[in-house]
Order: sequence, then C-alpha cells, then structure tokens
Amino acid sequence: MHPTLRLAAAISFASLFSLSAQAADSKGSVEVVHWWTSGGEKAAVDVLKAQVEKDGFTWKDGAVAGGGGATAMTVLKSRAVAGNPPGVAQIKGPDIQDWAATGLLDPDVLKDVAKDEKWDGLLDKKVADTVKYDGDYVAVPVNIHRINWLWINPEVFKKAGIDKAPTTLEEFYAAGDKLKAAGFIPLAHGGQPWQDSTVFESVVLSVMGVEGYKKALVELDEKALTGPEMVKALTELKKVATYMDPDGKGQDWNLEAAKVINGKAGMQIMGDWAKSEWTLAKKTAGKDYQCVAFPGTDKAFLYNIDSLVVFKQKDKGTAAGQQDIARKVLGEDFQKVFSINKGSIPVRNDMLADMGKYGFDSCAQTAAKDFLADAKSGGLQPSMAHNMATTLAVQGAFFDVVTNYINDPKADPADAAKKLAAAVNAAK
Ligand code: GAL
Repeated sequence: MHPTLRLAAAISFASLFSLSAQAADSKGSVEVVHWWTSGGEKAAVDVLKAQVEKDGFTWKDGAVAGGGGATAMTVLKSRAVAGNPPGVAQIKGPDIQDWAATGLLDPDVLKDVAKDEKWDGLLDKKVADTVKYDGDYVAVPVNIHRINWLWINPEVFKKAGIDKAPTTLEEFYAAGDKLKAAGFIPLAHGGQPWQDSTVFESVVLSVMGVEGYKKALVELDEKALTGPEMVKALTELKKVATYMDPDGKGQDWNLEAAKVINGKAGMQIMGDWAKSEWTLAKKTAGKDYQCVAFPGTDKAFLYNIDSLVVFKQKDKGTAAGQQDIARKVLGEDFQKVFSINKGSIPVRNDMLADMGKYGFDSCAQTAAKDFLADAKSGGLQPSMAHNMATTLAVQGAFFDVVTNYINDPKADPADAAKKLAAAVNAAK
C-alpha cells in the first residue's frame, strides 16, 4: 500500500480533535514534538524555547529520545491515531507530503507569516518545495545539515602517527590500521540502524559518485541497486565496518561522539549535529577537531533539512503560538544562534552567502560554501538515511538490509544488493 494511504488508513477512524484546549495562560501554549535530546541538541532547541517563552507563550516540550527520530515518528503516529497531535512537530522531507495528504496539517496557519516575512524570497526553491503542500507552507524549515562528514581528533591522529586527514578510502583504511595498532578505536560508531545507513550512504556516494547515488538511493533504480557499483560499495562498507567500535552495538551517536572528543577514538562518520557535542565540550573547529568530507565525497553534499510542521488544532488559540514559533525560526537571530549550537547551517539564502559575518566557524563556512556550489553542480543530493530522499517505508527497507548485512559475518555483497532491490521494491 502507498505510504500515504497507509498513514491515512491508520488515522481514518480517529477523531482528529479529541483532546481539550491547551493550558490556559496569557498568550496560549504550544506543544513541540522533536528528538533533539543529546546535550548539544538540547542546547540548540533551548534557544527556540527561550525566544518563544520571551514572547509570552508556554512551550510544552514533547521531546522523544532517539537519534534519527524513528521513535519520535512512532509516537507521533499514535498521537495522530488517538486524535491528539501536538501543535508543532519535527518532520522531514517527503514524509511532510504524506502527512499533509492526510489532512492533519494546517495549510492556513502559516499563510500570513510566510507572506509577511517573505519566505519565498528567503529560501531556495528546493527547500521551500519540501515544506509546502499544494503551494501552501505546512512547515517551517529550521536548518540544513550535511551528512557526509568525517570527524577527526587530530591529537589522536598524531599519537597514532597519521599526518593528514584521509581523502580516499585507501587512506581511510591506512589511518584505521594505524589507529588500531596504537590502541585507539579507529571509528566511533553506534550500531543503530540509522547510524549504519548514515555510513552506508556516505560509502555509496564515495564509490558510486553523485550520479550513482542519485540513481540508487533517490530514484531507486533497480539496475543501480543491484549493479556492480553497488556490490563494490557494499564490499567497501564491510571493510569500513571492520574499523567500527567493537563496543558500539546499539550505542547512541552522542556517546560515540564523546569517545572521539575524549581521545579514545580517532574518527566518526556522522552528520554535523555531531559538532553540537564538540561545541558543548568547548572544543574549537580546526584546532581541537577536524571536519572533512567523507573520503571521495568532497564534491557532494548529502543534505538533511530539519523542519517543524504545524498540525491542525481544536483550540484555535494555539495558532498564535504556532505562528510565533514559525516567525522566530526563520528570523536572523535564531538562524544564527541555533545553527551555531546545533552544528548545522542556516536555511536562509542571504545568510548562507555571508557566513563570516555571523561568526560561524570553519566547518560551517565550508558547509555553506559547498552547499551553494553543489546546488549549482548537481552535487547536492537528499539523504536517504535522514528521511530526505524516500518515504519512511522505503527507508525502513534500506535500514533492515544494511544493518543485517553489516552484522552478518557470512553476508555476501552481491546477495545483499539483490536483497536491497527486493526490499525497496516491496516497500515502494
Ligand atoms: C537527524 C536530525 C538532526 C539530528 C540527528 C540526530 O535526523 O535531522 O537534527 O537530530 O538526526 O538525532
């Protein structure tokens, strides 16, 4: 069944607005469901909370722990089925269209804000289209993350006798071997499915290039999913996995990031929310840590746009709070402070073009420069692992096959590629 129908069927028997009015106070209250719960992520979301509270609204925090947001999405679906969706929720990519098709999102509440604040002029069309349904904004984009990063502790590299960041997979393996020999964890990695697929998509990009990535992970082309390049990518993935933290099974991404920060591990492959943990630990980009594109992917940018959707609410008083959040989120001040805390870059074009002015560090400046260049060259591609490229059902198919493949010592890459295509086809 198409995911939209599946979602619609799940909520069709539910009364949409069963719960009563929000807590009464002067300006109204709004609940925000999100999964920003690591130390660094919390510091970032607290920026928004403070600004909204300063405006006189009550922020009801609906944080649901779990990196990548799978648990938050499950909670959100059951809330919708129960007729009790929050006023605002973190939802991303094509999933926004599926939710909007159910009629649960509010296409009216953001109309005036978007017009007054000139959102169409502030945002890249690709970004605006992601958060619009039938021409109306149903969500506000918050920030842009890049997935294909490699985070390095240079001090650990030095101790292991490695003199530079790897730029090819061969150099990556050589660095991994040296780190291992010197007694370090080469690659900090938490073996949760979304983290496995975060590594997988960077390896696919490295081996198959932008066109191959797009064909396989965005267009879901069967030939690309089963062809020799995918088999090669899966073979390399297995090799990358030999450097992963042996104690990383089921581990949260931020606990693994801490191992790199504390000098136990040398590297981590992770989106730039990883930087939020370095920032929280008072470490400086380019000095205490290095951010480089994952080997072989410096001409590409796998993007991930966080956004906050607005749900229809029975209590019309919630609209003012929803609008206040949306207005704040695209404001210059929030865009700057949030992304500095979160490790991301702003979503506003004017700010992306002038990052130095806002005090962004070297990693963020590189990200913005690459985002703009790759948008022109075609190297800007949506992340599969972070809900930007496919529906959640297709993403789930990738997650299952990739994680099983990484964990099965006898797994065969050609066989895994076939399984990938079959699972993806079934989920389409
Ligand atoms: C991503 C999300 C980021 C960050 C990360 C880890 O999917 O877009 O904002 O929170 O998960 O939880």
